[in-house]
Amino acid sequence: NKAITKICCIGAGYVGGPTMAVIAQKCPHIKVTVVDLNQARIDAWNDPNTENIPVYEPGLAEVVAEARGRNLFFSTQVDEAIADAEMIFISVNTPTKTYGTGKGMAADLKYIELCARQIARVSKTDKIVVEKSTLPVRTAEAVKSILQNTGNNVQFQILSNPEFLAEGTAVEDLHAPDRILIGGDTTEEGQIAIQALVDVYANWVPKERILTTNLWSSELSKLTANAFLAQRVSSINALSELCEHTGADISEVSRSIGTDSRIGPKFLNASVGFGGSCFQKDILNLVYIARSYGLTQVADYWEQVIIMNDHQKRRFATKIVKTLYNTISGKKIAFLGWAFKKDTNDTRESAAIYVADDLLNEQATIAVYDPKVAEDQILGDLNYLETRKAEKNAELVDVYEDAYACCKGAHAIAVMTEWDEFKTYDWQRIYDNMIKPAFLFDGRNVVNKKALTEIGFKVYSIGK
Ligand code: NAD
Ligand code: UDX
Repeated sequence: NKAITKICCIGAGYVGGPTMAVIAQKCPHIKVTVVDLNQARIDAWNDPNTENIPVYEPGLAEVVAEARGRNLFFSTQVDEAIADAEMIFISVNTPTKTYGTGKGMAADLKYIELCARQIARVSKTDKIVVEKSTLPVRTAEAVKSILQNTGNNVQFQILSNPEFLAEGTAVEDLHAPDRILIGGDTTEEGQIAIQALVDVYANWVPKERILTTNLWSSELSKLTANAFLAQRVSSINALSELCEHTGADISEVSRSIGTDSRIGPKFLNASVGFGGSCFQKDILNLVYIARSYGLTQVADYWEQVIIMNDHQKRRFATKIVKTLYNTISGKKIAFLGWAFKKDTNDTRESAAIYVADDLLNEQATIAVYDPKVAEDQILGDLNYLETRKAEKNAELVDVYEDAYACCKGAHAIAVMTEWDEFKTYDWQRIYDNMIKPAFLFDGRNVVNKKALTEIGFKVYSIGK
């Protein structure tokens, strides 16, 4: 069993970049090349100032600084990197389809197929191909079929190695994962390939945390994990609405149930709704797969997680409108936070986008401050919805680099992301500069409600 010395990863995004940086950091004897078609992204990964790398994650700049140029490389030379590697990770995006059969539900696998075809075309030596992207169960079958019909005598082994990192804690999660999951063929060659990947991770992950399984269980486990996590958020959010009608407090309920060791304390924070590039996409995909097998009850069960999440976002927007005397036309609403969670610059599927869109429909003007998200990203997110013309979004939305300026003259503040810095603001100063009554809608239950109420704010919290 020959040890791996050269790895290539196709896709230098939120997963490919950090995972490969950590593999390179922990395995100085392995040359890791991350490739992408996107020249600007690769240039940013190669920026001499590691603070400018395209993914913001606490601790990532340091990992890149340690390994880059030593055994970690970023490049657009995809063919060369594939040809040179013994092991190839596919870490490209698998978004929800926006056309054709399965539109709005199924995962779009065109980028995966392009990768498989490119690997098939370029490879002259045997390769282990690792699915790092999140894929529908049985995708490896298609990848296999493309790779094994090239007629060029190159042997391919396909592994599934889904990634469980969460954004904002990616480096932490990669350094000390709860588990590494590797699925492969049950044949002897399959087992050898699995072992080769186990050996890579064993450089820093304790052996008992490296789980091996068959391909289909591995693929399905990833969708299942995300469905379970999202389900917890929708469950607590569903109860947050009931709390608001009954005098129960969702934080108290979370604390009470979280101490049950069977339930556990994590992922019980009520919020304005989950976002991120994974939960919704992966559940829609799961629902689509279940429906394609005719499993209506299974599909409906999981779909409800999404329906609940959409409801949570919408009712937050509705609450703002109702509280502001049923009209927000021309009123300034300040958004604190735009990212889908703290400690990331990622905004994909962020609840802030949908709440802003609803408020813009009511002709509000929106001021946004996020410590890590820039104006072009925010306007791009809104334009992508195609609810109104780009010029209109640009006219109604102002992006600030300072939270105090953002809140100045506002009728209301909406806290959309749980950035730590929001807890330490001079709230008296913010209050003094707002229109009265000064409303604050805390979509993350992060501000000190009692202290703010004493200042004079009218505070609305989720589930209280
Ligand atoms: P991303 O969009 O940030 O990055 C994907 C990259 O792949 C892009 O830079 C794109 O240019 C590149 N790419 C696409 N096709 C290519 C090709 N043919 N050749 C070269 N480069 C190509 O996506 P991401 O967030 O890193 O997610 C990647 C996969 O990992 C998805 O399947 C996702 O579901 C999964 N995943 C994501 C997370 C997360 O937290 N973001 C966590 C676990 C799993
Ligand atoms: C998720 C999974 O956690 C990770 O394992 C997988 O690899 C990718 O998808 P991510 O989307 O990066 O990770 O972040 P996560 O921490 O799961 O948060 C997702 C969303 O749920 C965020 O919008 C977050 O704010 C929200 N959330 C999370 C809550 O509203 N309440 C909670 O208690 C936890």
